[in-house]
Amino acid sequence: MKKLYIATYGCQMNVYDSGRITDLLAPLGYAPTASAEDADLVILNTCHIREKATEKVYSELGKLKLVKDRGAREGRSVFIGVAGCVAQAEGAEILARQPAVDIVVGPQSYHRLPVLIDRLLRSEERTVELDFPAQEKFDALPQHRSASAPAAFLTIQEGCDKFCTFCVVPYTRGTEFSRPVVKIEQEARQLASRGVRELTLLGQNVNAYRGEGPDGKAWNLARLIGRLATIPSVERLRYTTSHPRDMTADLIAAHRDETKLMPYLHLPVQSGSDRMLKAMNRGHNRDSYLRLVEEVRRARTDLALSSDFIVGFPGETDADFEATLDLVKQVCFAQAFSFKYSARPGTPASGMEGQVPENVKSERLLILQALITGHARVFNAAMYDRVLPVLFDRKGRLPGQAAGRSPYLQPVHVDGAAPYIGEIHDVRISKVLPNSLHGELIKAEIGAAN
Ligand code: SAH
Ligand code: SF4
Ligand code: F3S
Repeated sequence: MKKLYIATYGCQMNVYDSGRITDLLAPLGYAPTASAEDADLVILNTCHIREKATEKVYSELGKLKLVKDRGAREGRSVFIGVAGCVAQAEGAEILARQPAVDIVVGPQSYHRLPVLIDRLLRSEERTVELDFPAQEKFDALPQHRSASAPAAFLTIQEGCDKFCTFCVVPYTRGTEFSRPVVKIEQEARQLASRGVRELTLLGQNVNAYRGEGPDGKAWNLARLIGRLATIPSVERLRYTTSHPRDMTADLIAAHRDETKLMPYLHLPVQSGSDRMLKAMNRGHNRDSYLRLVEEVRRARTDLALSSDFIVGFPGETDADFEATLDLVKQVCFAQAFSFKYSARPGTPASGMEGQVPENVKSERLLILQALITGHARVFNAAMYDRVLPVLFDRKGRLPGQAAGRSPYLQPVHVDGAAPYIGEIHDVRISKVLPNSLHGELIKAEIGAAN
């Protein structure tokens, strides 16, 4: 057996892709290993979203060069591949900057890895593969996934046609593409047969999903969710990332009517200032976002809302930033991610006037994060003494402990629950920690079994 080490950066789509790369390389004799040091093939599945993410790749490659050199001294070939969004954005530039790299493969062409690796083994020829045959990729991937956890990601849509002025995704992932319903259902059923209880449907714009249905017509996300909810052992469904522009009435209704759809929605707003939202080309404004929040909350009163924010977008004034704080205060998110604007090569915003100094961005980020954290604490504190169904999906840190997720995506740790990994059980929340919950199993017979 040869050993494969994959390091994954960026979003959940990269996590999904890394899993598929592992599946794809298994028939070639590659088994996953937990360390790059003893690997025969190392793949960095990269993210280009912010400058820091990209720079990280080059520093990691520097370290991998040493691993490769050591391998060579021991008479062992170590190959290095770069996949993901940096691969797509920088292409051959990566080979020039780091001579130790053998393969550069984009997020839409990684299904060709077996061919590229074969070529590499035979001729040591370095290659760059950056085509965009999205459908071909999914067709070429192995039908079976080696699911090992009870919660799994399933990519249903890729790419983005929205072109927010700060964002590289439309360039690195290409145009919007939706997989056919039948293919998604096959993958979901196969995962279910391997013990998967929770599916998170993925897409850069997942609610822009328009895939071919079994009737030959275009199905939207709400319809797809309805279909997947008929798989008996799939007990929970989630989706991410959605765009405020694509929250259709039937998707909102699904949050009310579809019991398997979990009460958690990640709905990035980026800013609370209309001036900024316009400059970002977001296609929604502050009011339309707030109205939408009201609507989804009416459909599902206990909905946990999450969001993404960018501070220090070019031209952002104190007043614009105040508008963002004000929006956060109005919505009270259960959690949210916030980032300092990072100018990305080739995006319209990188050339805009009024770039905000780094110290101002840092200051604003701290203020925003403190506000968001406060709201998240309140949201979590409200769980105290409540009974929540938890899907145990992994071992906890302590012996016998299991960790899982509440319907609101909060991590929950429970002592003595290790035998129940893969199952959903009611848990009474007994402790609220800053980033997680702690609770006790409330099933009497489970207490007796202990
Ligand atoms: N498709 C999703 C987001 C994808 S990127 C959406 O439309 O919301 C994830 C998050 O990274 C974005 O929501 C945004 O907040 C942040 N982001 C994207 N480009 C960025 C940049 N140039 N600088 C800082 N943050 C950025
Ligand atoms: Fe990027 Fe905007 Fe597309 Fe999201 S919608 S991936 S932020 S361009
Ligand atoms: Fe990063 Fe690409 Fe995802 S840039 S966030 S890995 S789509």
